Amino acid sequence: MVPLAELREPCGKVEGLIVANEPVPLDLLPALRVVANFGVGYDRVDVTACVARGVVVTNTPGVLDDATADLAFALILAVRRRVAEGDRFVRTGGWSGSWSEGGLAEELTGSTLGILGLGRIGSAVARRARGFELRVLYSRRLGADSDLGEFRDVDALFEESDIVSIHTPLTPETDGLVDARRLALLRDGGCLVNTSRGEIVDERALVAELVSGRIGAGLDVFAHEPAVPRELLDLPNVVLTPHIGSATRQTSEAMTRLVVDNLLAVARGEPPLTPVLP
Ligand code: DGY
Repeated sequence: MVPLAELREPCGKVEGLIVANEPVPLDLLPALRVVANFGVGYDRVDVTACVARGVVVTNTPGVLDDATADLAFALILAVRRRVAEGDRFVRTGGWSGSWSEGGLAEELTGSTLGILGLGRIGSAVARRARGFELRVLYSRRLGADSDLGEFRDVDALFEESDIVSIHTPLTPETDGLVDARRLALLRDGGCLVNTSRGEIVDERALVAELVSGRIGAGLDVFAHEPAVPRELLDLPNVVLTPHIGSATRQTSEAMTRLVVDNLLAVARGEPPLTPVLP
């Protein structure tokens, strides 16, 4: 078996391909009929080129919303309550005094959560926020009205939130959307959580803010995965996870079923369940 990125010779028999958000070498796959992406985000698949070649592209929307929203909350809680830092403190034998001598964290309950991108996953995060009595603000490109929170433009979202959680897909419009200027709008002690795509944030600017200690972050995604900026590795104000938003047993099974159902539908000459359009 050859990894897709290492394919150099034409492969005339492949009609269906399962990818995990990877570039598809269309020139080497002349018989290809369907690309089934294992994941909702397909920013590395050239959908326009596939469709121009008559190749159907599918993804797995809907089945990973809860898992990803849960992880966003895990990161929010971990950063605000300094969970990973506390874990390291205990493991390394640093805990020697009374509970009342510990460093203080920030309360989550009652704080303001800004959701950048109120789609399926962002909405699942907003619903969870109700349980924590959070004030929810949101930005989204299409359709301003939602009863899940108060609409703000992106700058106001960063200015008014204690925590900003990113849930917008990576597109040419959102690439670098969270730049140095917007990061600087986050209040001191604020927190950025990203379970979407690393490229949405200017990673160098984020690293600079985090190294300064002015803000904290919970990061599940990075601009050049699996590379993680070295400067982040020892910072107490950052919680890092290896792109595991959808990585639960239940969600992975549901994604797999959807991938297979899409492939079978195309094989039968039927419309796929969850096609992606350019
Ligand atoms: C997705 O679905 O796009 C995730 O990032 C992969 O788990």
